[in-house]
Amino acid sequence: MSVITTERHDDVLVIVSNNPPINALGHAVRDGIKQALEQAIADPAVKAVVIRCDGRTFFAGADITEFGKPMQEPQLPGLLEWMESIEKPVVAAMHGTALGGGLETALASHYRIAVPSAKMGLPEVKLGILPGAGGTQRLPRVVGVPAALEMIVGGAPISAKKALEIGLIDRLAGEDNLAADAIAFAREIADQRPLPRVSEKQAVAEPGVFDAFRAANARKMKGFEAPEACIQAIQAAAELPYAEGLALERSLIGKLLASDQSKAQRHIFFAERAAAKIDGLAAGTPLIPIKSVGVIGAGTMGGGIAMNFLSIGIPVTILEMQQEALDRGVATIGKNYAGNVKSGRMTQEQADKATSLLTPTLSYDDLSTVDLVIEAVFENMDVKKEVFGKLDKVAKPGAILASNTSYLDVDEIASATSRPEYVLGLHFFSPANVMKLLEVVRGAKTSDSVLATAMDLAKKIKKIAVVAGVCYGFIGNRMLKPRQDQAGQLILEGAKPSDVDRVFLDFGFPMGPFQLADLAGLDIGWHRDPTRRETVREALCAEGRLGQKSGGGFYDYDEKRNRTPSPVAEKIIAEFAAAKGIPQRQISDEEIRERCLYTMVNEGAKILEEGKAQRASDIDVVWVYGYGWPVYRGGPMLWADQIGLKTVVDGLKRQADRLGKDFTVSPLLLEKAESGKTFN
Ligand code: 3HC
Ligand code: NAI
Repeated sequence: MSVITTERHDDVLVIVSNNPPINALGHAVRDGIKQALEQAIADPAVKAVVIRCDGRTFFAGADITEFGKPMQEPQLPGLLEWMESIEKPVVAAMHGTALGGGLETALASHYRIAVPSAKMGLPEVKLGILPGAGGTQRLPRVVGVPAALEMIVGGAPISAKKALEIGLIDRLAGEDNLAADAIAFAREIADQRPLPRVSEKQAVAEPGVFDAFRAANARKMKGFEAPEACIQAIQAAAELPYAEGLALERSLIGKLLASDQSKAQRHIFFAERAAAKIDGLAAGTPLIPIKSVGVIGAGTMGGGIAMNFLSIGIPVTILEMQQEALDRGVATIGKNYAGNVKSGRMTQEQADKATSLLTPTLSYDDLSTVDLVIEAVFENMDVKKEVFGKLDKVAKPGAILASNTSYLDVDEIASATSRPEYVLGLHFFSPANVMKLLEVVRGAKTSDSVLATAMDLAKKIKKIAVVAGVCYGFIGNRMLKPRQDQAGQLILEGAKPSDVDRVFLDFGFPMGPFQLADLAGLDIGWHRDPTRRETVREALCAEGRLGQKSGGGFYDYDEKRNRTPSPVAEKIIAEFAAAKGIPQRQISDEEIRERCLYTMVNEGAKILEEGKAQRASDIDVVWVYGYGWPVYRGGPMLWADQIGLKTVVDGLKRQADRLGKDFTVSPLLLEKAESGKTFN
């Protein structure tokens, strides 16, 4: 059946799209709409047209898989200009998510109606582009410049109610009555002339509005190319005739589509969705119902992990060894919910409901009925094995037993139980109630059902899950290690912590390794013996420099925690290097990049080689969502593809004698570089 069909309702022609899953505006859809509109024009009995979609949503955008390939006619921008110009009124009837080219189709229609649950937005900026089918020119003409800036540069969708308020839609339909209400609306306006054409309206901008927007959003936009292009196009809508604004939109999207940034952002869009797929897992693998959860350890991670479930209505029993630690953990959860209410992320009622689902306990017996237990106790194998041994005795048969370990061998942890097929790693990131990433660590014996359940649950708690195999640090922390080792080594050879961090900031990371270390606290895992100074961190801690919290670490901090390079820390580092006999030299930014970032790519290649990640794009998802890798650089593996794997290998070879005696270049990386291949 064709993706576009038409229905006649007396004098109204309804054009229906059925192009699952999201009614993307691919070639067949565009062509079908064109033919149906021609039919409407040619038939004198048709007085008005409705465009609507079957399935879960109105058009959710252009078909992104067509980007970068030769576009087949009719192309969306031309089709929409023509549609707006025809002499019979077109009504767009929206439900689900009217996004990107979908909303642009609605904007080029003469009237817009939507169900109350619909959402509308122009999210193109998140793909590193801008709305390229007239959206930058039409939206400001309909909703005004400030609202258009928010929607186009911010990229977040708005509700139908908000859309009605700001004039983006003409009316709301009954939630279950869109088709009929749209036809009635079409009949009502069928004879009204002139037809309201958005391109004929004026967009007016207050003086200074664009620069004020740039200034207010500078931090969010830093490093990205698309937001500035969006602003320029909206500015053109306010300052130039429609046709000239459209021409600028056209030329800007052309450049953005060809940019590495947009390729990287589109890569992450698909990578995120690919990560949810597990190779070799049979479709329909049975899921284990998770109706209640236990968390062991109410520290930094345990509390945040618990919140994920409480917030979606799943009761959590949280266990500690001592009352004091339990009280502290519960109080922190309460404080975090209060913060969510204060910031408007939750209502008081929602927060109260969440906290009412929490049961604190000191007794393992209280975990005997839960469907899933997540352990978040100290990072120590003996402690973890003891905990899993106890769990094995109390947990009901069929309960999933998970560890939030950062580095440890999940198979060894599983060996402390009589049911390793029910054991896996669920590695959350800190703060666990906020960070999007979840590494799902598949043990040698983890059953398919347990794995599939974990992936399904991740979606429910709105995490992006990536499957990792058992190895030291899994995907993320394993790749962090060479980066941290090299950063630590570089400051001993003469680079300042601020030099290394600057290279990371320039690259687009929100923070450099030493800023991060100061924020986390240098005393994590410190033995607290000031006479033992085997590492720079130990030397800094011995001098009371514990990081931000003590007013100094690698940097100095004022009361407002503003950071400045620290002559004291630099002296401690130089003395430490002198005591180790490490000569000092000038170190270039390029060397910092090569040693810190290329070694990560190399470790990523080893992870792939060993089958610890399913695909290169999974590694990219881990780094973008878990470690602040700038999304416009697509993750380490795509970035390596973009700069060229030969460049990476040459850099590693150049630095080889500084990378430590155990350093080796990954054979997979070498092979790909030599044969001109890429990871993605
Ligand atoms: N093009 C092609 N495929 C798309 C797509 C698109 N625009 N949007 C989603 N898909 C695919 C996904 O890759 C996924 O495929 P898979 O099942 O093979 O993995 C499938 O559709 C379902 O997508 P989701 O898993 O994301 O489904 P959800 O229900 O969770 O979300 C959605 C639906 C909110 C519509 C979400 O898919 C989304 O945000 N899509 C992108 C919307 C977008 O960016 N639109 C603008 C496109 S650019 C554009 O329109 C340019 C124009 O200005 C000219
Ligand atoms: P934490 O020290 O803040 O909390 C651990 C809690 O576990 C403490 O409250 C302690 O009293 C409790 N505990 C210890 N042994 C216990 C036992 N036998 N039974 C019950 N409770 C016990 O530690 P954090 O940071 O929450 O780390 C927990 C785990 O999460 C570790 O494995 C860590 O590697 C991992 N992790 C930590 C991250 C972080 O950024 N802090 C990020 C991701 C994982």
